[in-house]
Amino acid sequence: MKYIYGNWKENNTLRDVNLFISEFKKQKMPNDVCFGLAVPYLYLQKMNKKLQKKCEIGVQNVSFSEKGEFTGEISAKMLCDFNCSFSLVGHSERRQKFKETNEEINQKMLRCFDFGIMPILCVGETKEEKDENKTKKVLKMQLTKCLKDIPTSKKFMVAYEPVWAIGTGVTPSPKDVEENVSYIKKVLSENIKVSGICVLYGGSVNPQNAKELLNGKSVDGALVGGASLNAKKFVDIGKNLQNIRR
Ligand code: PGA
Repeated sequence: MKYIYGNWKENNTLRDVNLFISEFKKQKMPNDVCFGLAVPYLYLQKMNKKLQKKCEIGVQNVSFSEKGEFTGEISAKMLCDFNCSFSLVGHSERRQKFKETNEEINQKMLRCFDFGIMPILCVGETKEEKDENKTKKVLKMQLTKCLKDIPTSKKFMVAYEPVWAIGTGVTPSPKDVEENVSYIKKVLSENIKVSGICVLYGGSVNPQNAKELLNGKSVDGALVGGASLNAKKFVDIGKNLQNIRR
């Protein structure tokens, strides 16, 4: 099974959402591919109702607190009332533009576990860190801090997203994707003591490069930004992975 998750970010008006839904429904879905979409909160209910059977619907962020004086925040407890199946946690845009720390991200992971929402933890190195050969050090540090004291029986995913590959059209080599994803799995089993965790790759994935980028034996799928805004392109990414042999 491969997993293709989309991240709409701050895109799509209600009109765009309606168009996406009707286009998505027309697509023939590939076998053995599970789709999910992280949408703006406003569309969670509608998308869930319309696409439920064909696509998991989740969100892009969640509050670190359960409730209280945190104006503008949405809690995991609120989300579970709306059948939110997952939330991205610690996306690099949140880390960089909203100054989210690994400690806050850890709290967000714990709130998701408390309320049955599957977190997808995003990790990845910046261009400077890559150039200084610090990728593995950064990945290990982010994983150990963000996954501190998590209940090891709970389901979650990790997305390896090199910051320099997000929205740039530049991607790592398939060999580097495999190497870093397999390193993440090693840290998960040796340091965090969890097994069976799916690890996705994210950063400039599109229907043309998906098969090559996601071909590595450790890579379980993709987290897709730009290309997830178009229903056909999004489903095509999954279709192009169908023939990968394991
Ligand atoms: P991109 O975004 O596919 O547009 O590079 C990926 C992401 O931000 O998760």
